[in-house]
Amino acid sequence: MKSAVALAVLASSGITAAAPEKLHKRALASSAPFYPSPWMDPDAAGWQDAYAKAKEFVSQLTLLEKVNLTTGTGWESEQCVGTVGAIPRLGLSALCMQDSPVGVRGTDYNSVFPSGQLTAATFDRSLLYKRGLGMGQEAKGKGVTVLLGPVAGPLGRMPEGGRNWEGFSPDPVLTGIAIAETIKGVQDGGVVACAKHFIGNEQEHFRQTGEAQGYGFNITETLSSNIDDKTMHELYLWPFVDAVRAGVGSVMCSYQQLNNSYSCQNSKLLNELLKGELGFQGFVMSDWQAQHTGAASAVAGLDMSMPGDTVFNSGRSYWGTNLTAAVLNGTVPLWRVDDMAMRIMAAFFKVGMEVGKQEPINFSFWTSATFGFRNWVAQKNVEMINHHVDVRAEHALTIREVAAKGTVLLKNTGALPLKKPKFLVVVGEDAGGNPFGPNACSDRGCDNGTLAMGWGSGTANFPYLVTPDAGIQARALQDGSRYESVLSNYAWTQTSALVSQANATAIVFVNADSGEGYINVDGNEGDRKNLTLWKNGDDLIKNVSSICPNTIVVIHSTGPVLVTDWYNSTNITAILWAGLPGQESGNSIADVLYGAVSPGRTPFTWGATRESYGTDVLYEPNNGNDAPQQDFSEGVFIDYRHFDKANSSLIWEFGHGLSYTTFKYSNLQVAKSQAGPYTPTTGQTAPAPTLGNFSTDPNDYLFPNASFPYIFEYIYPYLNVSDLKKATDDADYGKSAKDFLPPGATDGSAQPLIKASGKSSPGGNPQLYDVMYTVTADIQNTGSVAGDEIPQLYVSLGGDNPKVVLRGFDRLSIQPGDTQQFKVDLTRRDLSNWDPATQDWVVNDNQKTVFVGSSSRKLLLNAALQ
Ligand SMILES: *[C@@H]1O[C@H](CO)[C@@H](O)[C@H](O)[C@H]1NC(C)=O
Ligand SMILES: *[C@@H]1O[C@H](CO)[C@@H](O)[C@H](O)[C@H]1NC(C)=O
Ligand SMILES: *[C@@H]1O[C@H](CO)[C@@H](O)[C@H](O)[C@H]1NC(C)=O
Ligand SMILES: *[C@@H]1O[C@H](CO)[C@@H](O)[C@H](O)[C@H]1NC(C)=O
Ligand SMILES: *[C@@H]1O[C@H](CO)[C@@H](O)[C@H](O)[C@H]1NC(C)=O
Ligand SMILES: *[C@@H]1O[C@H](CO)[C@@H](O)[C@H](O)[C@H]1NC(C)=O
Ligand SMILES: *[C@@H]1O[C@H](CO)[C@@H](O)[C@H](O)[C@H]1NC(C)=O
Ligand SMILES: *[C@@H]1O[C@H](CO)[C@@H](O)[C@H](O)[C@H]1NC(C)=O
Ligand SMILES: *[C@@H]1O[C@H](CO)[C@@H](O)[C@H](O)[C@H]1NC(C)=O
Ligand SMILES: *[C@@H]1O[C@H](CO)[C@@H](O)[C@H](O)[C@H]1NC(C)=O
Ligand SMILES: *[C@@H]1O[C@H](CO)[C@@H](O)[C@H](O)[C@H]1NC(C)=O
Repeated sequence: MKSAVALAVLASSGITAAAPEKLHKRALASSAPFYPSPWMDPDAAGWQDAYAKAKEFVSQLTLLEKVNLTTGTGWESEQCVGTVGAIPRLGLSALCMQDSPVGVRGTDYNSVFPSGQLTAATFDRSLLYKRGLGMGQEAKGKGVTVLLGPVAGPLGRMPEGGRNWEGFSPDPVLTGIAIAETIKGVQDGGVVACAKHFIGNEQEHFRQTGEAQGYGFNITETLSSNIDDKTMHELYLWPFVDAVRAGVGSVMCSYQQLNNSYSCQNSKLLNELLKGELGFQGFVMSDWQAQHTGAASAVAGLDMSMPGDTVFNSGRSYWGTNLTAAVLNGTVPLWRVDDMAMRIMAAFFKVGMEVGKQEPINFSFWTSATFGFRNWVAQKNVEMINHHVDVRAEHALTIREVAAKGTVLLKNTGALPLKKPKFLVVVGEDAGGNPFGPNACSDRGCDNGTLAMGWGSGTANFPYLVTPDAGIQARALQDGSRYESVLSNYAWTQTSALVSQANATAIVFVNADSGEGYINVDGNEGDRKNLTLWKNGDDLIKNVSSICPNTIVVIHSTGPVLVTDWYNSTNITAILWAGLPGQESGNSIADVLYGAVSPGRTPFTWGATRESYGTDVLYEPNNGNDAPQQDFSEGVFIDYRHFDKANSSLIWEFGHGLSYTTFKYSNLQVAKSQAGPYTPTTGQTAPAPTLGNFSTDPNDYLFPNASFPYIFEYIYPYLNVSDLKKATDDADYGKSAKDFLPPGATDGSAQPLIKASGKSSPGGNPQLYDVMYTVTADIQNTGSVAGDEIPQLYVSLGGDNPKVVLRGFDRLSIQPGDTQQFKVDLTRRDLSNWDPATQDWVVNDNQKTVFVGSSSRKLLLNAALQ
């Protein structure tokens, strides 16, 4: 059993993340303990009503009932991907956790939304919200309690990162705004959102030991992401602050370690940063099998064990029986279990759910059959488990709009928008369907046909998939165009015969896929093994453009790909990035190609080479059989911040994207506000409340009676015998609380508030959100068609900070000749740096400059901040 207290050894330095050499005898990064785990604050803004309702409910619960709420009933035990125990006595049915960040996973008659990454590329708050709302409503309609998304970890440190597409962007401000809008939408839809994965989960390789052993690396502990305090605050934690401020009900801790302490028992992460500094009032659930201890993770801030069993289908749990015993024997204080139950129920009430009025769960994640086992692994209780409820409503319209408005026009020498093209030839496997159907590969673990979603748990079943071939053909026929398609990357004879014809406009579709680490597709263990196109895509583009002077390229991908070899060809007249568009793929791309919709802006940088990114996935262990060490030694310099620092050339910069019209930027104005001085938060919390009593007699916690309908491999809160040591069957049982738990872990007395936190104000010290400057600029549409401009505001913070950092943006629809005002409020947070010495944010004396422009390198206007 691994203790939550890491030894205080010196942090390592100087070894880059990508260095493959074995690190013998290195001093490992460590994590300082922080105890006790903060309890809920009755006065927390946005949570008061939820707190009151939760308190009324939790006060009625027995210890067994509280434990039931905190512990999953085990993998494949009930219909959802994760389910906790119910409280039948009070009419609370089991809470249902269900993937994913693009729709309800593993069911039918649901929608598949565009990826978070493509939605970020819209730079449109209202669309981010609308997509979240649609996903929340669909989850609600299936009876889900917690929708497992959105994602801000991975943030996107490495372009190869397998799950980057599930999140938004390597820029923390774009991701922060995106995750907040998504959370508001999901929770307005009536279910709890789950911000994940907290934190440092930037690569798939080595996130789980079993998985790594599966691809040939015998490691005994998972990867450790080693992140310094400043980088944590200014980069990786930043969007989670926005998530907490938006009222997110749950946060999922991640698989890998942070500074050599597992994320789900890292007290500095969960107790200090998340619940202390950020003032998070909801609950922390583990990623599936990311929990490694019982009492230690309880006091380190974990609130819900998912899916509840130690390893899938073990029938054993770190909590359940063990948590009941840990309270009875005095190791875990009752107040901590009360707080777990409070946080779970407060999140439930916060989104408008009511005990006794929950929607029934009307699907099963484990089968598409109508009738089947409700308790899947136990093969018990046959009933109607899939009601096939159609929850899609009008969401297809939002999906089509988001995917079109997120598609980025990277290059256009005049070929677009299409105007009644004479002869369209659509080329490439990526334009067609999967011959076995859009859902043929389990969890989309293949790259067959057009790419509209990555692979893994972040997926959902397509209700249909409009392919580019279908969508473009339907549009082309309206104009009477001639239309043909060759849906293969290898049919050169047929392709060349078409694209070489007079008046041919060739549209070549190519892709690059990635996903979650439990599936290997073509040698890619979740993370991409390279940044090039798949399935011979480069050759296809080069061949077509060598004989067709009007070649348009469309890229479906999970991040940047290398285009260096061909993007500059004069025969390639346009290039678009269409990300992962979801079910309306073909209609969305047709909307952009024909100019019916204005495109978006790239949410990441397109480098000329793989090396130019300066960061890469660690593909081979570098610490013997022990935890591979991933040092985030580049600090805050990822993506455009790295390219700017290295002053390296690139293909397309962050924020770049063309439009079908032109815009003029002028009249930059900076107005200073009267923000008062910053005062660190002081004072103390109230002592931890204890809600109710409990009997210390183990006999009161036995299975109810002999006729109790025990389900195979199910996780229960009960004891099977009154001897606690026997009941828990824990080899380490009986270590004294003092030896076992870190100092202060069980202390329920009033605690000092953290300086950078907000008193009853989730999201940190409220003065961080004081407006210091209001910046405005005029944006005029100087072209002849209506279009959306996406003005971006960057700040140079001076000193050793990145050249510029994004701090604001908007998406403005402007008629030809019209002018609109772009306005951004710059807050104290926007102008601050994290000071590790004082453990607070400070606006330092560096000269600061504000820039307004159309990308991170087209900084058209600037002004010094006084
Ligand atoms: C990780 O270690 C670094 C270097 O000592 C330190 O700055 C940082 O606060 C630690 N973070 C966590 C979460 O332990
Ligand atoms: C715990 O949850 C299980 C599964 O939902 C349920 O059968 C049991 O009655 C619950 N126990 C208590 C004490 O509520
Ligand atoms: C789920 O389906 C059942 C049976 O059709 C229905 O009673 C229930 O209301 C549905 N739940 C939701 C949330 O639609
Ligand atoms: C893996 O490493 C562990 C610890 O070093 C060792 O006990 C075990 O035998 C190894 N397993 C294999 C298959 O090499
Ligand atoms: C209690 O937890 C230990 C690991 O800490 C595990 O080995 C044991 O099986 C658990 N007991 C039960 C009843 O799940
Ligand atoms: C109390 O129970 C827990 C859970 O089984 C166990 O890990 C711990 O060692 C026990 N502590 C004592 C003091 O017996
Ligand atoms: C689909 O993908 C799988 C795995 O990547 C591959 O083996 C198979 O040949 C593909 N099938 C078709 C019909 O393309
Ligand atoms: C079609 O191709 C012919 C022959 O190359 C050319 O003369 C003509 O201008 C083309 N028409 C259009 C509309 O591109
Ligand atoms: C990169 O990986 C893809 C997918 O596995 C593969 O199709 C492609 O050939 C690889 N590129 C290179 C240059 O090896
Ligand atoms: C462009 O296409 C023409 C055929 O129309 C071909 O002759 C020429 O070599 C191509 N140019 C490039 C740079 O591929
Ligand atoms: C692309 O073309 C432009 C303009 O012709 C040229 O300046 C630039 O060097 C080219 N870039 C590459 C990588 O070939």
